[in-house]
Amino acid sequence: MSQSMMPNGYVPGATLPPEDAVRITRRDRLLGPAYRLFYAEPLHIVRGEGVWLHDREGRAYLDAYNNVASVGHCHPRVTEAMAMQATQLATHTRYLHDGILDYAERLLALFPAELGHVIFTCTGSEANDLALRIARAATGGTGIIVTDNAYHGTSLATAEMSTSVGPATAPGPAVFPIPAPTVENYPDGIASGFAAAVDAACDRMGSAGVRPCVLILDTIFSSDGVRPDPQGFLAPAAAAIRAHGGLFIADEVQPGFGRTGTGMWGYGRHGVVPDMVSLGKPMGNGYPMAGLVVRPHILAAFAANARYFNTFGGNAVAAAVGQAVLDVMRDEGLMQNAAHTGAALADGMRSLADQHAALGETRAAGLFLGTDILTDGQPDAALASRIVNDLRRTGVLISTSGPLGHILKIRPPLPFSLANADQLLTKLDKVLRDL
Ligand SMILES: Cc1ncc(COP(=O)(O)O)c(C=O)c1O
Repeated sequence: MSQSMMPNGYVPGATLPPEDAVRITRRDRLLGPAYRLFYAEPLHIVRGEGVWLHDREGRAYLDAYNNVASVGHCHPRVTEAMAMQATQLATHTRYLHDGILDYAERLLALFPAELGHVIFTCTGSEANDLALRIARAATGGTGIIVTDNAYHGTSLATAEMSTSVGPATAPGPAVFPIPAPTVENYPDGIASGFAAAVDAACDRMGSAGVRPCVLILDTIFSSDGVRPDPQGFLAPAAAAIRAHGGLFIADEVQPGFGRTGTGMWGYGRHGVVPDMVSLGKPMGNGYPMAGLVVRPHILAAFAANARYFNTFGGNAVAAAVGQAVLDVMRDEGLMQNAAHTGAALADGMRSLADQHAALGETRAAGLFLGTDILTDGQPDAALASRIVNDLRRTGVLISTSGPLGHILKIRPPLPFSLANADQLLTKLDKVLRDL
């Protein structure tokens, strides 16, 4: 299922309140046909606070899906830092500014010593696109390995390696997809099978006259249906691409900044140090900031013949926001909460599965969960979509993922409490009983 199809999304022609129908017609007229809306009955959100979103009628929705507002929607410490800095200065990295240096120092301290530089961008797409440019300079290769339902961004190069987006742009000619790390795809062992798939993709490149450049992976495999385990399985895959002269890029846009509960970055669960790490979404809690962390000798190969300037990336406001996000994470113990609440929520999902045949396996790391939806033991995307839309009607927001669109994706802001987890489980139980 490509992202463009949005299995649980709004379908033109659905019956809606008249004012929303007017709004959608206006939106189509102004924004054109490329955008998609969540939910069969799209939401009109006007305010967010913590883990709650409020619509224009004042109805509250428990947000169990948005990872951008990672420290909570509109967190006052973040918005205050943003506003304060915006009243003083908002220039870029071509002037000296301590704000960006202080933030870079603090951010790099969250990585192993090998990852010594950071470059700031505005979006995860830009970070991944830059990673490709740097990798080409460092390796002399162009061949890219991704999983077969990957998502890495919106630029031409990153869309061409976003195999989940659909046939319009992906995969590009130098992109060599491999099966996602599932037991079904690698019945003899995910770690060895996945590494062997990297090897085989490099061999296919060789036959096509393409030199290996990168293995780039979302380290939680969110669009592949949430694949966090077994821990350690990425290490042999990284070794395999390096043996062919390529680099390993960890795309931390989804799992990064403490979401997996046991560390700041998803790759940390796998005992591997990447060559580059791309960051995004939660980094600015809604302020558009992202970045690329890189080993110095790799960046040196790029910088020998190129310079980098991003008008907005690393501006003074971004630096202030980034600091505030890390302050909140530390002071509110959000990574610890991700571990604690995430484990309770995953346990709750597995207990519910004892009562509801529709719920299959739940895979989870911290507050990132994927649960298979099945009918007679087979993937059922239509049922997953119905569950997501029924939950939305009860005031709980989640979505779906995976190549078939049959996996519930649960990924709330990190202040999600045990009480919130209970609310979600109670509503899901009711939705499943009422099916
Ligand atoms: C894994 C992953 N990488 C990269 C991106 C692109 O980030 P952005 O939308 O900020 O360009 C996304 C966005 O959904 C993502 O999920």
